[in-house]
Amino acid sequence: MKRLEGKVILVAGGGGIGNALSRHYGAEGASVVIGDNHPDRGQAVADGIVAAGGTAASIRLDGRDEDSIAAAVALAEQRYGGLDGLHVNFAALSEARDDSDVVNIPLDVFDRTMEVNARGYLLCTRHAIPAIIARGGGSVIYTGSAAAYVSEPVRVAYAMSKAAGHALMRHVAAAYGPQGVRANVIAPGMVRHEGWDRMPPDMATGIENAGKSVAAIKSRIARPEDVSAMGVLLMSDAGSYITGQVMGIDGGTTMRP
Ligand SMILES: NC(=O)c1ccc[n+]([C@@H]2O[C@H](COP(=O)([O-])OP(=O)(O)OC[C@H]3O[C@@H](n4cnc5c(N)ncnc54)[C@H](O)[C@@H]3O)[C@@H](O)[C@H]2O)c1
Repeated sequence: MKRLEGKVILVAGGGGIGNALSRHYGAEGASVVIGDNHPDRGQAVADGIVAAGGTAASIRLDGRDEDSIAAAVALAEQRYGGLDGLHVNFAALSEARDDSDVVNIPLDVFDRTMEVNARGYLLCTRHAIPAIIARGGGSVIYTGSAAAYVSEPVRVAYAMSKAAGHALMRHVAAAYGPQGVRANVIAPGMVRHEGWDRMPPDMATGIENAGKSVAAIKSRIARPEDVSAMGVLLMSDAGSYITGQVMGIDGGTTMRP
């Protein structure tokens, strides 16, 4: 028995981790709608899920564009009959280069980061919640980050935006728990994924070694499948009493109480 059979899940944001989430949800029997602001990339993942015998569709979803989010939820409802799960995963990572410290960060970089990583998460949630409640309840997952709760001298906007996602998660868990909606954050440590192939190999090895040096597990850093394994648990009925939590997938880097 596949663990997500009969469920419909919207994954908002593909890329290295989001593609793995979509594939894993599809392999476990879910009908998957993949939304990304580069829909061609999502289409390739949807095609792969279908070729493997699963069910998936791709749609343009931009976290800055409320209509595109509404359309993705409508696609799930119209084509697959409803929505059981929302996983918001996208992030404005191209802003990272200029996301410096509080004194120097250009305000447009701050605004663009918050618009996608905080406001975009809120928009996806407000459109998905009524659909999930109509289904009798379900699971909302946000991809967060340890940046929300460890100290960092740089990336002030990214850290603030990720903390916003963690706060949104607690709000959703508390406000809609009585109607059967669970909400959790998966906070990955450093994840090596297909996007790293575009990096010079020396740089990738350097970053990977830095990740290993701060983790308790030294043999490797995280893979996207480590994140999606937690996603499957939280989306599945086996996770039906888990809500309001931040699940760190970081090889023991943070070990929060
Ligand atoms: N890779 C890591 O080491 C790591 C660590 C901690 C947290 N995370 C988090 O994991 C998530 C995925 O990161 P990733 O490493 O897979 O990055 P990625 O760049 O591979 O994927 C990000 C995806 O988001 C999409 N996207 C960007 N802006 C968007 C928008 N406005 N609307 C819709 N889609 C948009 C991109 O097109 C891309 O497909 C992010 O939330 C990131 O903050 C990643």
